[in-house]
Amino acid sequence: MHRRFTGDTLVLASHNPGKLRELQELLADHGVTVRSAGELGLAEPEETEPDFRGNAALKAHAAATASGLPALADDSGLEVMGLDGRPGVHSARWAGPGKDFATAMARVTGELAERFGDWQSADKRAAFVSVLCLAWPDGHTEFFEGRVAGELVREPRGEGGFGYDPIFVPEGQKRTFAELSRTEKSALSHRGIAMRALLAALFR
Ligand code: IMP
Repeated sequence: MHRRFTGDTLVLASHNPGKLRELQELLADHGVTVRSAGELGLAEPEETEPDFRGNAALKAHAAATASGLPALADDSGLEVMGLDGRPGVHSARWAGPGKDFATAMARVTGELAERFGDWQSADKRAAFVSVLCLAWPDGHTEFFEGRVAGELVREPRGEGGFGYDPIFVPEGQKRTFAELSRTEKSALSHRGIAMRALLAALFR
């Protein structure tokens, strides 16, 4: 049995501006005031768990405990089939402390080309995964997951989105996530899928 969200304020337990913008847009029109972890001066916990679910729970719990309010966290990443699922939970870390995603994208495409001999022969299948955790200050948690399959391109394309968006073409599309409008990306994305499931189950 799900616990419904009946409060009027929700903390977004993220310091990632791209994620915050997407989550805020998905929560618009649901009659809830959204506060970000940064706005509340909450610390960013270290992501020490081995999977998305564990890290989403860790971030949501930390923010709920520190703020005394229900908190929503997203843990997400890019799984590349030809790299045995990497970077996965380490997606943010591949960009280094400077959050340099040009380098992270070049590492993904470079490792793929190297492993398969050349880019043409590489297994370019990939998926974005998002696990959302909504945690209450009393310790109760709810989880929702979203996944979108697609293919990688070698040359980054597009100015929208964030992270690995410029090299990811979702299934059935020709444009990368970074070439889609925000509304188009949300309709297809792992985070959009997970958030719509959460809203349907927990919100009125
Ligand atoms: P974390 O959940 O804070 O560990 O970070 C997730 C990382 O996965 C982000 O920093 C991005 O590198 C990547 N990622 C997650 N969702 C997306 C997305 O929608 N587009 C592009 N990259 C993403």
